[in-house]
Amino acid sequence: MNSELTLQKHPSDIAILGLGIMGSNLARNILRNGFSVSVFDINSEAVKSFKQEDKGNKVFASSDFAEVIQSLAKPRKVLLAVHAGPTIDKILEQLFPILEPSDVVIDCGNSHFRDTERRQEICSAHAISFLGVGMSGGKEGALQGPSLMPGGSEAAWLNVRKILEAIAAKAGSEPCVRLLGPGGSGHFIKTIHNGIEYGMMQAIAEVYELMRCAGLPTEKISKIFSEWKEGRLGSFLIEATAICLAKRDPESGKALVDLIADNAEQKGTGKWTIVEALNLGIPCHSLTAALEARNLSADTNSRAEMATFRNANTTQAFADLAQVDLISILEEALYYNFLVCYSQGFSIMAGASREYNWNLQLQDIAFLWQSGCIIRSKLLKEIEKSFETKSETSLLLAKPQFRAAIMSGTTASRKLAQLALLAEVPVPVITSSLTYFDSLKSARLPQNLVQAQRDFFGAHRFARIDRGGDFSIDW
Ligand code: 6PG
Repeated sequence: MNSELTLQKHPSDIAILGLGIMGSNLARNILRNGFSVSVFDINSEAVKSFKQEDKGNKVFASSDFAEVIQSLAKPRKVLLAVHAGPTIDKILEQLFPILEPSDVVIDCGNSHFRDTERRQEICSAHAISFLGVGMSGGKEGALQGPSLMPGGSEAAWLNVRKILEAIAAKAGSEPCVRLLGPGGSGHFIKTIHNGIEYGMMQAIAEVYELMRCAGLPTEKISKIFSEWKEGRLGSFLIEATAICLAKRDPESGKALVDLIADNAEQKGTGKWTIVEALNLGIPCHSLTAALEARNLSADTNSRAEMATFRNANTTQAFADLAQVDLISILEEALYYNFLVCYSQGFSIMAGASREYNWNLQLQDIAFLWQSGCIIRSKLLKEIEKSFETKSETSLLLAKPQFRAAIMSGTTASRKLAQLALLAEVPVPVITSSLTYFDSLKSARLPQNLVQAQRDFFGAHRFARIDRGGDFSIDW
């Protein structure tokens, strides 16, 4: 028996494997909601210090893996709070000899949905269920209530439903967790959540950049974001932006954001979104532009090589716009860009649902993103409503509810794009969201010429608009 083992009166409701910040906060959340928890970590110090927090004797803590599993009520529920990747497979290998049929393993990490589906297959050979649960909200969300996106079997869901509903964020009184679909759909949806997150963050960054170019000081920009948070743009990311911009560096007293290097990092889920969209053939110009913006920002060598092209005085282009006009135009454009990011994300999920027979309910996803997660916003309530209304289309931008916002948002974006291009300020998401819209609404795109070229050099054939059939000619 391990020295950290404390005598246990009753078997625990669930085990958490991994006591990093996410694992410990999830365990605290579960405990606060009245469940008992067994915790494991290879680091015995982490185990000891977690046990010390336990006031109600509801924690069984050990750095002996098998002991922790044996401490659980059956069917056993084992939640993995470890880094996504090969560690999960290693833990599963260790779990198989100890777990029994009907036990459930829950993966709350940012796992790739194909890995989740592979693991579900391996687990089912052992008669064990594997639930892939997308989780959003960061460390604070894990503690106070994350948004949870489970995918897997109904039986696995029913086993853990009570606990997940108790710990999830609430929108109104409803928990932000519902079984969203089979297989890896939960982790797929979390991936798309992150792709949308990249898009919204970049759109905000571009708006911030335009304000900066127009000469607004960081403090004033923070105030504008604070005001926007009260309006229709109200969202976690707008609120977070206002806070980031207001923060002062304790040493220099300068705005901290002005001292942060401008090369963005990423862990990979934004890229997965684009790869999956490409695989499905679903266009998502704005989300792609956001990913590329991060990639380019991080390519500091190329940026240094190109610096000699910099034009010293380009912000003059903004002088034409009165400040008050600029702010309202930026608000309209940002709202439209948020809508486009969501729309592209929902289109990818609708495409995946068709391709993989997931039967995803888009309004459920729009609901459970309304609280706890990073992309939560007031707009998601409108999006949920729009999906509830019976309609031919799953394309958000085609829904009548958003027509007015699209019209004003695209007009505003055109003004900004014009200014930004003249001022040589890159605004990749703003311009991509316009291109996406303009392409979608075009009666005729120039791909007739692409089709002609394909037939010219490869006899790839083309359709005609004046008659039916399939053609190829000797050009
Ligand atoms: C969340 C976040 C979370 C994390 C991202 C950051 O929903 O809680 O999306 O998953 O912050 O992994 O991703 P990048 O490092 O790729 O920006």
